[in-house]
Amino acid sequence: MNPPILQFVWRGEIVTMHNIAPTRTLLQLLREDLAHSATKEGCNEGDCGACTVVLADLQDDQISYRAVNSCIKMAHAINGMALWTAAELAAVDGTAHPVQQALHQCHASQCGFCTPGFAMSLFGLYQNRVLQDQPVSRTEAQEALSGNLCRCTGYRPILDAAEQMGALPRVYLDETRLRRQLASIAPANRSWEAACSYDAPTRLDALLAARAARPQAQLVAGCTDVGLWVNKLHMEFAQVLDLTRVAELKTITVQDGHTVIGTAVSLNDAFAALELDRPQLHAFFSRFAGLPVRNAGTLGGNIANGSPIGDSMPLLIALRASVVLMSLRGQRELPLEALYTGYRKNVMAADEVLAFVRVPLPQTDEWLGAYKVSKRTEDDISAVCLAIKLQVHDGRVTQASIGVGGVAATPVRARQTEAALTGQAWTQDVVNEAKACLRSEFQPISDMRASAAYRTQVLGNLLQRFWLENQGAAEVSLAALTLAGENA
Ligand SMILES: Cc1cc2nc3c(=O)[nH]c(=O)nc-3n(C[C@H](O)[C@H](O)[C@H](O)COP(=O)(O)OP(=O)(O)OC[C@H]3O[C@@H](n4cnc5c(N)ncnc54)[C@H](O)[C@@H]3O)c2cc1C
Ligand code: FES
Ligand code: FES
Repeated sequence: MNPPILQFVWRGEIVTMHNIAPTRTLLQLLREDLAHSATKEGCNEGDCGACTVVLADLQDDQISYRAVNSCIKMAHAINGMALWTAAELAAVDGTAHPVQQALHQCHASQCGFCTPGFAMSLFGLYQNRVLQDQPVSRTEAQEALSGNLCRCTGYRPILDAAEQMGALPRVYLDETRLRRQLASIAPANRSWEAACSYDAPTRLDALLAARAARPQAQLVAGCTDVGLWVNKLHMEFAQVLDLTRVAELKTITVQDGHTVIGTAVSLNDAFAALELDRPQLHAFFSRFAGLPVRNAGTLGGNIANGSPIGDSMPLLIALRASVVLMSLRGQRELPLEALYTGYRKNVMAADEVLAFVRVPLPQTDEWLGAYKVSKRTEDDISAVCLAIKLQVHDGRVTQASIGVGGVAATPVRARQTEAALTGQAWTQDVVNEAKACLRSEFQPISDMRASAAYRTQVLGNLLQRFWLENQGAAEVSLAALTLAGENA
């Protein structure tokens, strides 16, 4: 089966490439096939940001820019997009881009290995905020740079540069020309009959047909999990089926009291939609990986991958979200927690895809808490994750919904603790009983992230934190929470 032609806009021109293997990464394409060394390789697993590039595509005739890790992006995934690396920021006459000027003026680079990645994350921020006349706050800069590591300069001057770039004379891209180029290379819908080794259908019926015809093809969305299987486990896939181009799955709608999120929507866009209704979730969402991973990965990928330490599932379980599975045979909807049958095992048939995630809109009197305990604040995986949704009427708990990660082979619902709370008075005594119940409900394992005893202890501590927040008695920072968890 032949690889399809790969076309993208780079350095202002349309590049056409042939015979690129389906699991060739974008970083390999840049550094090895195009002999372009400006983009660096550090960890090769999405963790350090040295390989960050910016991609743009056309969405409803608007150009949308996002920084992603090229090391875990499949090269074919950028078909029909525009690409920038740090070597394309300066003007043709060599004048440095405001991002570069600011980094230089703020002394924000020493060895410089990380700098191309920082420059690209800042370029993404520049396109999305500065050129939209939105000032860049320190907090926003920190979030935009959450996927970039620097080991010698220190972050203060880099954050200074992020704030300063907006004060410099602006530099705009020629978007009229770019829009024309992107439109001219927009991928057409490929049907399953025209099978090739990297298939990225643009319509749902074609995706389902391809899934039925070639169930052995590796299904991918943002590739932020699968990219690691390729780079670190050296897996090869003869065929890849990429669902991120499917128009129907790129939507976020509100239907029948639910926010319905298509599984081609990025984590970042999905989180933004959920935050509209529940703004308190921002802090929790910003602890999920770093921005380049959230720009590429999807909510559907997180759920389908089914890691017991995946972060979105405990929250979605607490919110009583459901998943819609589709195949040519039809569709079915089930509660999210019912998807899992064991460690990274689920009920999805070989011809099915996870198409939509349905999240109930907030109830007026709901109280929601979501907590992630990890060793690092940013870009780290959970040791324990707990999400609780509670409704209390006249001092009594009328509904309790609890999702937990890091304590079992799958993300789980804490049914016994829910039962221990429901119908009870909302008091410290009842919370103490619920804490004991929660600690005994699961038998977590010890691993490199945390011991079983630590996880058990922290579970109850998080419920106590929820109670304190509910009483308005605690203003515990996330940093303090992590510390408390570590010391527990
Ligand atoms: C540096 C780094 C940091 C990370 N930090 C976190 C973190 O803090 N919290 C966390 O939970 N995760 C984290 N992850 C893991 C990963 O980013 C998430 O699991 C992400 O949501 C995966 O989505 P994806 O679209 O990239 O999935 P992919 O990698 O494309 O796919 C993952 C799996 O899901 C399947 N799949 C994808 N979409 C569908 C679908 N619609 N239907 C059926 N099957 C499907 C694929 O076949 C594959 O088996 C991190 C990853 C990296 C590299
Ligand atoms: S090389 Fe480290 S994130 Fe890609
Ligand atoms: S300048 Fe050396 S790692 Fe950042």
